[in-house]
Amino acid sequence: MNRLDLANSFVEQYKKEVKTAYRPKFHVIPPFGWMNDPNGFSYYNGEYHLFYQYHPYFSKWGPMHWAHVKSKDLVNWEWLPIALAPDKDYDKDGCFSGTGIVDGDRHVLMYTSHLHPDADNTSLYIQQQCMAYSNDGVNYTKSMNNPVISTKMVPKSGDHQDFRDPKILKAGDLWYSLIANRNVDGSGQILVYKSTDLENWTYHGILCRSCNQVGEMWECPDVFQVDGKDVFTISPMYLPQKGDAFSNIYSAVYFIGELDLEKPEFAGSDFYEIDYGLDFYAPQSVETPDGRRIMIGWMQTWERNYPTDDMKHGWACSMTLPRELSIADGRLVQKPARELRAYRSNHVNHKNIELNGSLSLSGIEGNALELDLSVDLKKSKSLKIQLLKSNEESVDLTYSGEEKTFTFSRANTKTKISGWEDHQVESRTFHVDVQDKIRLQIFVDVSTVEVFVEGGKYVSSSTVFPLDRGTGVEIHSDGLLEIESIDKWDIGI
Ligand code: FRU
Repeated sequence: MNRLDLANSFVEQYKKEVKTAYRPKFHVIPPFGWMNDPNGFSYYNGEYHLFYQYHPYFSKWGPMHWAHVKSKDLVNWEWLPIALAPDKDYDKDGCFSGTGIVDGDRHVLMYTSHLHPDADNTSLYIQQQCMAYSNDGVNYTKSMNNPVISTKMVPKSGDHQDFRDPKILKAGDLWYSLIANRNVDGSGQILVYKSTDLENWTYHGILCRSCNQVGEMWECPDVFQVDGKDVFTISPMYLPQKGDAFSNIYSAVYFIGELDLEKPEFAGSDFYEIDYGLDFYAPQSVETPDGRRIMIGWMQTWERNYPTDDMKHGWACSMTLPRELSIADGRLVQKPARELRAYRSNHVNHKNIELNGSLSLSGIEGNALELDLSVDLKKSKSLKIQLLKSNEESVDLTYSGEEKTFTFSRANTKTKISGWEDHQVESRTFHVDVQDKIRLQIFVDVSTVEVFVEGGKYVSSSTVFPLDRGTGVEIHSDGLLEIESIDKWDIGI
């Protein structure tokens, strides 16, 4: 059997074996095995297609395949056969991240082939760029000309190993491919290649480079328009922590500015972190038919222990919810995609509740839900919301009015997560600019918590694995506090 058929039949056979305790209900997750980056996020033939880095055989990273799901509404995803397997001489050690675009009737993928030319030396590898095409959005055929961008086409300033994660854009009749590369100074840069036919590419120049100012190697570039501005996102490795930003050693950041592909140049702002959670990396975006820009990220990061793998549950990792992007005051604003509202049920609302101490509200509990709160902070300065609460565990969200900070914490859960960071990765605190009122939109999905603060000005996404798997929600105040309104919906597909 070839490697694609083998992977597909393995998943069919073993997906029944996954342990379901921590599987989210309305997020994209692998049926079996390991997932990382979203890939090829695109809209083709009236449906969204999302691929992802996938190791079908085990709940740990391994030779990468491209898993494939599609959806009409960005929430309810249908599993399709694995699109790419590492089955060629040039990509036998992995089909790494890349892009999905539509060219006429064709669905086109560009991915990075990963190869260890010397079987005994895994620190030596070659990364080159390859194409695959489909006319039905199910079966993808790799180009006979692969790799279409070889390492020979990397300029002298670029390292020949780290060269990956192409993002394709079209301008006029030309296709441009933006590819992450390590400069010989060790830090990230984006190389640009151009083509008229997606098969023959020429080197065009350097779009931008880090000069060691923005972490080390950059991964997974994306460029798109939002509210008339160009937004450039990358995932830099080892970006040093600065204040409350970039505290995960693998961060995802954005610049807002102007893209000039012809030059090529991205003239932009300072850079900001996309998500203030403990688990967010390598996002990709797509444009909806009605012109909205939607982003999905990998709700994990590298060099951590992955609890469902530790517990031998047969699967690991999930995507974030799809988020709608806009720009306000020079910053990216992210709101949960409006399509999610169609999956709300069992609505409970409480209004004007005065709280002094602790409170749980009737009808407000669960482990797959949305909670929207608006809290008056004039009298009390602090608020704590406990989610997934049982007798001994809880996931805690705290707003401190004195510090004007918001804290997500999984420290009060018994499953411990640690990473390469030289600090704990059990909680994360960030500054929020609120005055007399705070608005929170919270999504809990079994082992994921995403918090949208102040209408998406700040977002925090993290995974949680409480052993007791409680479903309680408890709110605490330090002094008198008024909850103007709290809405709860169960979310299910
Ligand atoms: C980012 C990344 C990419 C690479 C892929 C491999 O998370 O390291 O740079 O293409 O994952 O799975």
